[in-house]
This record gives sequence, structure tokens and C-alpha cells, in this order.
Amino acid sequence: MSVQHLPYTQEVEQATADVYARIKHIIPKIEWPIHAPYIAKINELKKERNAVILAHNYQTPEIFHGVADLIGDSLGLARMAAETDADVIVMCGVHFMAETAKLLCPEKTVLIPDVTAGCSLAESITAEDIRKLKQQYPGVPVVTYVNTSAAVKAETDVCCTSSNAVKVVESLGTDKVICLPDRFLAHYISTQTDVQIIDWQGQCEVHERFTGAELREYRKTYPGIDVIAHPECPPDVIEEADFVGSTAGMIQYVADNKPEQVVMVTECSMSDNVAVQHPDVNFIRPCNMCPHMKRITLPKIYESLLTLTPQVDVDPAIAEKAKLSVQRMLEIG
Ligand code: 13P
Ligand code: SF4
Repeated sequence: MSVQHLPYTQEVEQATADVYARIKHIIPKIEWPIHAPYIAKINELKKERNAVILAHNYQTPEIFHGVADLIGDSLGLARMAAETDADVIVMCGVHFMAETAKLLCPEKTVLIPDVTAGCSLAESITAEDIRKLKQQYPGVPVVTYVNTSAAVKAETDVCCTSSNAVKVVESLGTDKVICLPDRFLAHYISTQTDVQIIDWQGQCEVHERFTGAELREYRKTYPGIDVIAHPECPPDVIEEADFVGSTAGMIQYVADNKPEQVVMVTECSMSDNVAVQHPDVNFIRPCNMCPHMKRITLPKIYESLLTLTPQVDVDPAIAEKAKLSVQRMLEIG
């Protein structure tokens, strides 16, 4: 998609002054003329289109603080999508998040500014793989991470996210559950419950790169540091962490504990975004970037709202079954 260049004018400077005041300690002044024209235009277009912009916690600060109406983890974004009365939802996140929003709101226009924003977990499993597993383990319920396609969700009993996975597994009342597709999340669940977990070999290409040894180095260099990690990390990282939780759970941890120094063992943008609210906390920032999340940019959001493309649609043959698995999760909590 060729993206229009928008000029930085005095009018734009004034219209975005309050946004810049909030994020000036994380976005250098020299970069502002690049972002500000898009922020001003997107915020105008949103009103004209009766659109709401949902942004995942891994979006860049200029998106997260500049144009997002609602921000959150995967569970929060699904809930907000289900509740909005806007006509158009712009999902600043990855494709499975937009697809989940469309499942929950089939009558709305759901846009994803870059349709190629994927996820290594969603890529790791197909609907056919699940059908085979169900034959292999007859009667064992299937819990699927939302980081999957709608076709996979349609073969699923109930979805989960990193913030409710243990609760969802235990809600089923069985002694065995198939948990897909993230093997590290499945391992983490197995350490928190007596239910036997059958896993799959999917991994997040971002979180798999962290190591326990790296975290021990942070503890040596920054004595007293709080180490908080996402459950998609490998087991040696989880063992080293003071707290394990979803992206929203990690943000809550910082708000509740106000650590002097903290390392968030997750995607790069998290610390930048959270630092805006916590200028007194020293964030040590290991940077493993999610290339899929970073496909979403302000110029692409602008083009998407202008043209109302690319729209996300779900095959009607699978939509109803896939929606049920997400709704069951939302009912559990
Ligand atoms: P959260 O649900 O914790 O935000 O995780 C989503 C994700 O893609 C993490 O890599
Ligand atoms: Fe997928 Fe990992 Fe990127 Fe999250 S961080 S969207 S799990 S590849």
C-alpha cells in the first residue's frame, strides 16, 4: 500500500500538543513532526467514521498513546470489541485479534491496518492438526489459546488467553485437557494445576529467545530488581521470575508494586508504553521485538480508516462454532 505523506503544520502542532506533552519523555522531539500529522488526521477520521481504535499493549507509543481509544491484552481487547457500539473497529494488533473481534461483532466493519500482521503461534497449528489430536485423545477437551485462526477456534471447546488459561482449564472439571498451541504456556499451566496437560509444539518467536541466564545477569547488574515475565517464555525464564502474567497482568504488577527498577520480560514496546504512567520506575529494557505487531504504523492506520480496508471477514461455515469457543471463554472470565 502506498501511503500519503502528510505535512507538519502549525495547526497540527497545536492539535497534538496535549498528546506530545504526555509522551515527550519517550518520543524525541525530532521525531514528532513525523507522527503528529497522522495522529491529528486519524483522530479526526475516527469521529467521521464512528470508529474505535483498539490497541494491544505491544503497539508503539505513538499509536498506544496517540490514537488508541482502548488498550489492553488479548482478553481485554476481545471484551472491549464485544461491548463497543462503534460502527468500525480498527484493530492495532495482529490478525487473530482482529478475527476475534469480527467473530464477536459480525455486523461491524473490522479493519486491520496491515493484513499480513500474523503470529508464529497462530501459524503453528491447523484445524486438521486438531481433528487428528481429537482422534488420538477421544473425549479430552480442547483449550485453545486465542493466538490461533478462526478455523482452529472452530475445532475448539473453549479458548483461553494468558490471563485466564489456568481458570479455563480447571473450569472443565476433567483430569486431562489438550492445551494448544503454545508449549511454554502449556508448561506454565501444568505447574499451576493438577490437571494433566497435553501440549503442542508451538512457540512465540519473541518470547522463546529469552533465557534464565540472561535474567540472572540482570539480577547481578541491578540488585533488588523486580523480574516479571510473560507465560509464553521458556520454563527457565519463568522459574527466574518474581511474577508471571499476561501483558495486562504485568502492567498491573508495576502499578500495584511501584518497583524502583523492573525488567518486563516481553516485547519491546511494553516498557515504553508503561513508562509513560510511571516516570519514577527505572525500566531495564531487554528488547525482543514482535515483527508482526510492528507492521502496524500510523500511516497504515490512516489509510485504513480513509479507505475502510483491509477488512477482516470470517468464513460463515466456521464463524458460529469459532464464536462459541470465544464466548465460552468470556463467560468463564
Ligand atoms: P497478552 O494476552 O498477554 O496480551 O498476550 C498476547 C500476545 O501476543 C503475547 O505475545
Ligand atoms: Fe504472536 Fe509472539 Fe508476536 Fe504475540 S509476540 S503476536 S505471540 S509472535
